Amino acid sequence: MKKKIGIKGTGSCIPDRIVPNAYFEKVIDTTDEWIVTRTGIQARRMIEPGQALTDLATPASESALEMAGLSPEKLDIIIVGTSTADMVSPSAACIIQHRLGAKNAVGFDVNAACPGFIYGLAVAQKFMQDGSHRHALVVGGEIVSNRIDYKDRSTCVLFGDGAGAVVLAHSNGDRDGEILATQIYSDGDLWELLYVPGGGSRIPASYQMLDKGLQYVKMQGNEVFKYAIRTMADAARKIMESKKITSEEIDWFIPHQANIRIMEEVAKRLEIPMEKVIVTVHKYGNTSAASIPTALDEAIRSGKVQRGDLILTNSFGAGFTWGAALFRY
Ligand code: ACO
Repeated sequence: MKKKIGIKGTGSCIPDRIVPNAYFEKVIDTTDEWIVTRTGIQARRMIEPGQALTDLATPASESALEMAGLSPEKLDIIIVGTSTADMVSPSAACIIQHRLGAKNAVGFDVNAACPGFIYGLAVAQKFMQDGSHRHALVVGGEIVSNRIDYKDRSTCVLFGDGAGAVVLAHSNGDRDGEILATQIYSDGDLWELLYVPGGGSRIPASYQMLDKGLQYVKMQGNEVFKYAIRTMADAARKIMESKKITSEEIDWFIPHQANIRIMEEVAKRLEIPMEKVIVTVHKYGNTSAASIPTALDEAIRSGKVQRGDLILTNSFGAGFTWGAALFRY
């Protein structure tokens, strides 16, 4: 008999520095009106120089642990969905383990771009279902602000930084909460739609790499847009079908916060009214793997999401990767 798993606590940390669209009007050929109408983004948050992912992910994790009423030593596993860890090595999870003092956990990162948090939930679920791991910390966090080319107007206006976390524990289901399903997918044939070429083993860091701007995100925005809608709607339909749940039964839909037009179109295809969609993209931009756990944490702390609510979440990103999770909070 597989163990049930519920979300016991959530936390998030968004940088203080607000970068409004007006900033980009000064540095590139764009307008606030273009950015708002094409993306829904009015502002994003960015770290200060010298800050890194775990400076956001550690406080987000501490908040989640506090809400869960769990001490860090009780954690058995730490999974961080990110493609922008503090360093190439070690993993962000090991740094977070160190900073929390989670001495009894095993930690590792999952690199799946924006769906990194959903991938993390899926992996944690597998570790916990057989009862061998009782408490998990799943983090989704990203520092995109130093991976974007501020001369490329089609990417630089989209992204922001952030981190969110959840603490998972075995549950009795019902009002104790339960992760009903997680489903993850990838299609490596589409990797060239969205990638960061430099800094890995193929094009290691060098002066030439920096001169060519290969440390920055390269994206075919139009193509990503189409695949995003198709894969997010598909993943949501499949996961609801797998549990025989209809759109009307969903209390809250938390799609990846990439672009309001993508979110609206996916909600329309799923026949979920926008009043049930949690939206943060206007104030934080696309925070990649952080977008879902930060939106979830805000919705819980504001009282919007209540214990017992049925939540659908889905995401897409570089890889191409995508996935969905369905849970009762
Ligand atoms: N300001 C003004 N004009 C711009 C800007 C800008 N910031 N950016 C692009 N344009 C111009 C283009 O140059 C183009 O001009 P042209 O017609 O003269 O060539 C025109 O606007 C239209 O460009 P499109 O790319 O067709 O605009 P579109 O409506 O598709 O919007 C956008 C572009 C916002 C990038 C959209 O395609 C999108 O959101 N795609 C998905 C991107 C995404 O979500 N990526 C994240 C993936 S998740 C992850 O893994 C991190």
